[in-house]
This record gives sequence, C-alpha cells and structure tokens, in this order.
Amino acid sequence: MTDCQGDGEGASTPMELYERLGAQGDKVRSLKSAKAEKAEVDAAVQLLLKLKIDYKQMMGQDYKAGCPPSEEAAAPDNGPAAEGDEDTVDPWNVSTTNAKGVDYEKLIVKFGSSKIDKELVDRIEKVCGQKPHRFLRRGVFFSHRDMHQVLDAYEKHKSFYLYTGRGPSSEAMHVGHLIPFIFTKWLQDVFDIPLVIQLTDDEKYLWKDLTVEECHRFAIENAKDIIACGFDLNKTFIFSDLDYMGASPEFYRNVVKIQKHVTFNQVKGIFGFTDSDCIGKISFPAIQAAPSFSNSFPQIFGSRSDIQCLIPCAIDQDPYFRMTRDVAPRIGYPKPALLHSTFFPALQGAQTKMSASDANSSIFLTDTPKQIKNKINKHAFSGGKDTVEEHRKYGGNPDVDVSFMYLTFFLEDDEQLEKIRQDYTSGALLTGELKKILIETLQPMIAQHQERRKGVTEDIVKQFMTPRPLNFNL
Ligand code: TYM
Repeated sequence: MTDCQGDGEGASTPMELYERLGAQGDKVRSLKSAKAEKAEVDAAVQLLLKLKIDYKQMMGQDYKAGCPPSEEAAAPDNGPAAEGDEDTVDPWNVSTTNAKGVDYEKLIVKFGSSKIDKELVDRIEKVCGQKPHRFLRRGVFFSHRDMHQVLDAYEKHKSFYLYTGRGPSSEAMHVGHLIPFIFTKWLQDVFDIPLVIQLTDDEKYLWKDLTVEECHRFAIENAKDIIACGFDLNKTFIFSDLDYMGASPEFYRNVVKIQKHVTFNQVKGIFGFTDSDCIGKISFPAIQAAPSFSNSFPQIFGSRSDIQCLIPCAIDQDPYFRMTRDVAPRIGYPKPALLHSTFFPALQGAQTKMSASDANSSIFLTDTPKQIKNKINKHAFSGGKDTVEEHRKYGGNPDVDVSFMYLTFFLEDDEQLEKIRQDYTSGALLTGELKKILIETLQPMIAQHQERRKGVTEDIVKQFMTPRPLNFNL
C-alpha cells in the first residue's frame, strides 16, 4: 500500500473519504491490469465497496469519480473550485453575471475559508501597532485561513514568513496585479518578516503558447515591477522556477514529497484537469505548493521546516493552497495560512477580473498618462444615468461603477472616498467628474511606479534573485 492509499479507517471528512475512494479505485484497476492474484483483487474490490457504502452513508449520495463532495459538506481545506449558480472562480477564470462582482460571502462558504471581520482587523492593528492598511479597512482583503493562529504565535514571539507569486505571462503587468504585492509589502514592513516571491515561468510555459526563453525573460521583467513596489532587499528573495528548481535540491525534495501525496483524481477534482492535459500541468500544483514550506529555502531558514508561512493572494489562487494545506500534515509540515483579496475588476465591469489577456480590460503599469485617460473615459463601466438631467435627478450607482470601485482600491483618504460615494449616489457628482478623479489618482501613481522601475537595474534584480541568507529574527 502506498502513501497515497489507505482504507476507510479514520477518514473523518467527506473529502478524505472521496480521496481514499479514488486511490482504492486506482488500486483495483492496477491490480486487474497487472493480472494479480484473484484473492488480492477480491480484497481490494471488497474494500472499495465498503468505502462506497461509507461514502453514501456520510453524504447521502453515491460516490462519483471526478465529482468531489461539495464544499458545504467537504473538509474546509479541500473543496473543488467554486462554480456556483452564477459565479466561476478558479486560477484561470473569474466570471459572474452580477454587475456588482463576485458574491464573496458565498465564496467564503464554498471555499470553506473564514471572513476577515472587524475583530480580526482590530486584532491585526493591535498586534502590529499600525493603522490597518486601506485594503483591510475596506474589505479588499476579505477572507483568510488561520490568521488568528499566526497572530497567536506572533504574540508569543514565534514569527512567520510571507510567500506570494506571479505567473509571468507577458512583459507588462496590470494594475490588478499590484494588489497582492502592495499588501505584501505592507505586511513585510509592519511585521518585519522575510518574504519569498515565486515567479512561475514554468507554469506559463506549460499553459501558454510561449517558449521557455520568453517565459524566463518575462519573469525577469516582472521582477522589476515587483521590486519597484518597494520590497526590502535584505528581507526578500525572488526566484524563477526555471532557475531555482534545478539549483535547490531541498526545494525539489519538497516538490516530490507533495507529488507523492496527491493523486490524479484529486487534482482533477480541484483544478478540472482532463486526460488530454499535458503531464506538466498535472504535476505543476506541487511546484506552487513547495514554497509554503520553510525548508524549501535552506539558505534562508536552514533545515527548519516548522516556520509558519502566510500567503497573501487574490482568491483565485486558493485551489493551489487548499491542496497544499491538505498535504502539509501528511508530510510533517505546518499548513500555510492565507489572506485572500477580492478581484480588481475589468474596465468593462465587475463581471470579470482585470486580466492581461484582454488589453482593453486592463490598465497596464506601462501605460502613458494619455492611455490611462483614454481607457478610463472610453471603457470604464459607469453606474451613472444616461443623461445629465436624469443623473442629477436620480443619482448614480457606485456599487456597479468601475471608476468608483477602482478608487476604493487606491484612494487613501477614507473621508474623501465616502464623500465621493455620497455625491455620486445623490447625483451631485457626474460620471465625467468621477472619472476625472480616478484619472488624476491613477496617472501619478503609475508614473511614480514607472520612475521607481527605471531605477531597478539588472544588478538589483540579480541581487534579489540570488539565493542567500536574509536578515531577520524569528
Ligand atoms: P498571476 O500572475 O495570475 O497573478 C499574480 C497575483 O495577482 C493576483 N491577481 C489579482 N489580484 C487582484 N485583482 C486581479 N484582477 C488580479 N489578477 C491577478 C493573483 O491572485 C496573484 O496573487 N500561479 C500564480 C503565481 C503564483 C502565486 C504564488 C500567486 C505562484 N505562487 C503564491 C500567489 C501566491 C499566477 O499565475 O498569478
């Protein structure tokens, strides 16, 4: 019996039982195809039947391969990607029919994560001694896993490290990509902790029509934008998978440990892979999981495997980390904690996230002031009325207005934001005026980013990307 298999004993959650059923089904098939002894095949089939009965008792429905139990019934850490009545959220697609955007309350229930409520925001403020970042004050980061545990340990002087990443699919990143990096920088500053940033150039090679060389080049270009967010060189290690996988035996050891403990059935359930997906895709989730374990970075953490990891990301990446959290205890490591953000919407409306694959949906970090102005004026979906008269009379709807949504991400002053909301709702503020405020907020912000990026030399990138000790106290 391999580590991936087992019997029904001790399967405490529907997802565990579902996984064991998948593994047992695999075992029966392989015994039959290897023409094993009849007694051995019969025993394996008996166990499979017993597991199916247990599953039906637990779930009230038959086990079906490729259909994991729904999140409401499943173990919180290992549900399938959310595909509700109208919302789809996974690492490749985000869409809803609702103009206000994804129903995030529902997503918390589906994914089995926890809401970042006022109590948690107050607690973060108390523990780090700083005013909470506007992303916390405004619910941009809205969901978490185990953040209270991270804070409990931190209060007892047991620190943690941060891990986040980027899939370098093109040279230019868009404004939405900044969200997790801006917040990660704030966390690094207020908690004074080390950070690792994974650039999954291997992932983009596997998924896109790009060469290995292009993906690696995009990783280096994207690293410049990430460094321009202001990360501390003494506390930050940025790595390209294509470089680091071959350079770090410890990292690769963790990758294979994870690969051994996740079955094809599981990744099919979590990521929707099919039989015609290349095997690189099927094994890739283990590579995104590995940085969650501190001994993947011996140059930073030595041989310690017990250092808690905290991952800030948008919630589209959660399937990777549900899988990681499920595997962690089975290979003797702590589960990573997570902080999830909402999506920065596409210019055309909150039914989809801003995505680099649609140039008109995005404001890129390379856009000129004129391009920013034109894109917002031409494409930003408006919650205003058709005529000035109607708008003055009935007011606009900030809940579906993309310009207002963007301001909630980037305008620092809470009072100013609230006044804009009230004025737009009452009709005192027109759509053109609202767009002008947004243009005047984004133009200098992006120009400053471009200035900082110009200062990021090849040598600085090399320093950030060299495996080396970092400066911190744990
Ligand atoms: P990628 O390159 O798609 O996205 C990078 C980060 O940006 C977030 N993100 C967004 N956040 C808000 N609004 C949006 N419109 C938006 N679009 C993307 C993503 O959630 C992500 O945090 N496989 C990953 C790379 C990766 C990673 C990680 C990400 C590897 N390890 C650990 C987060 C944490 C990817 O392709 O991300």
